[in-house]
Amino acid sequence: MKIELLSVAQKRKPADIFVAGFFEKEKLAKEIESLEPQFAVAAKAALAKGRFEGKYAQNFSSFSSDYREAQEAVLFGLGQKKNHRKGCLRKATGQIIQLARARKAARVRIFLDSFVGGEPTLADGAAIISEISLLASYEFDKYKSKSEDQKKEKKLEIVEILFSKKQNESALRAATKKAQAIAQGVLLARTLINEPGNIMNAPELAARAKKMAAEKKIQCRILNEAEMKRLKMGGILSVNQGSVTPPALIVLEYGTRFKSKGTVCLVGKGVTFDTGGISIKPAKDMEKMKYDMSGAATVIATLGVISDLKLPVHVVGLTPAVENNVAENPQRPGDIIEMANGKTVEVLNTDAEGRLILGDALVYCGRYNPKAIIDLATLTGMCAYTFGDKAIGMMGTDKKLLSHVQKAGEETGERCWELPLWDDYRDQIKGHHSDLYNIGGPYGGTITAAMFLKEFVPAKTPWVHLDIAGTAWCDCPRYDCVKGATGVGVRLLIECLSHWK
Ligand code: BES
Ligand code: MN
Ligand code: ZN
Repeated sequence: MKIELLSVAQKRKPADIFVAGFFEKEKLAKEIESLEPQFAVAAKAALAKGRFEGKYAQNFSSFSSDYREAQEAVLFGLGQKKNHRKGCLRKATGQIIQLARARKAARVRIFLDSFVGGEPTLADGAAIISEISLLASYEFDKYKSKSEDQKKEKKLEIVEILFSKKQNESALRAATKKAQAIAQGVLLARTLINEPGNIMNAPELAARAKKMAAEKKIQCRILNEAEMKRLKMGGILSVNQGSVTPPALIVLEYGTRFKSKGTVCLVGKGVTFDTGGISIKPAKDMEKMKYDMSGAATVIATLGVISDLKLPVHVVGLTPAVENNVAENPQRPGDIIEMANGKTVEVLNTDAEGRLILGDALVYCGRYNPKAIIDLATLTGMCAYTFGDKAIGMMGTDKKLLSHVQKAGEETGERCWELPLWDDYRDQIKGHHSDLYNIGGPYGGTITAAMFLKEFVPAKTPWVHLDIAGTAWCDCPRYDCVKGATGVGVRLLIECLSHWK
């Protein structure tokens, strides 16, 4: 699908649907009257009769071969202007795309000026419409057979963003371009995650990361099993012991020329499938555990976007990739392993594997002497119980970094909510025959998991951990996402890194 930015002064061929926004209690905009005079007459009549008031998500649609912009015109209700927020515009765009797809429209024309006001500016509007149009049209259907009829079905091909305020053209173009790069990153993350465990194993994830890196001209190194042994990465090695494919530590690097301004490390959990190991998971919903590499997918995709946007930061993406399975010689409960920083861990539960592989990756960050580390992981079921799919669980050691991430979350709609990392929680993971246990008992599981990670963060390094267990997957379709991987975190990280100081 393509996004095109179009000025009202430009010549254009008719679209299939023309959509304008309408705020409750306002008058129909003059621009709509001049763009589509006949539709304006119909819309005014509907407004006068109270058939359409412009309440949020209410819409009025009418059809005529005399219309200029498209045969079908839609007025989409946005509620009251004073309450209009970026989030409302995101939802509205998603609903408009669903509507267009239900109508089998190939070309949709959205009149930008009518959708902004209240909080969002014209540039915000252009960005949001571009971004959400791409996200809402995504499907993962590569493994589905299609009938001849289905193959012939019209797809949504073009979303045109029509604007009238000419003076903003270059700002609008820039916003549209940036938003599309970000959305493509989200879609890449979704596809990596939606791929099933029999296809997307550690070597495959490494291959896809390499391919992306070559396309985007960034560095990619894959640390293999032998190198991990040398580095004593007991966490990664022991978790992967029950897998028939070798583990990989994927290291992506962008922007070495900006090194003098400091390095940011992004770490993503890459468990390509989590059976739980010997502490095996219940059968119900286990198929979803292919999304246990969502953190890794997000980090890989984000590095690609950073390169597209040429952000002036040095970023290293580290994603340990393993499969947590049971084969000939799996990790056993009670095993004591040694992690890359020399700390020993008694594995009380082989299903708490994410923290073991992340621990080694966090230690590895130390060699970059980063000024910040952000990790993303589908780490605990408890986090999904706590926040549902509405917030990312956030924990960390640095107030400034935490608030920077929090703000980026508000800005992008990928909200983060902080949980405490008080020392009092440490007792729960203190080991008996070892330095640490890998679980902290039944209570406070999201926090004790993060407390465990903290043991492996290089000294004096600002660090934020994002638990995306609840947000990385959606079970029921949302305005911008079908059932499956959401690609959460790409927008958040890009927003963080776009305003890096
Ligand atoms: N990948 C899971 C966490 C998870 C569960 C993510 C459900 C998304 C949905 C993680 O490896 C895990 O199994 N965590 C355990 C930890 C427990 C053994 C302390 C959990 O959450 O049950
Ligand atoms: Mn697990
Ligand atoms: Zn897991």
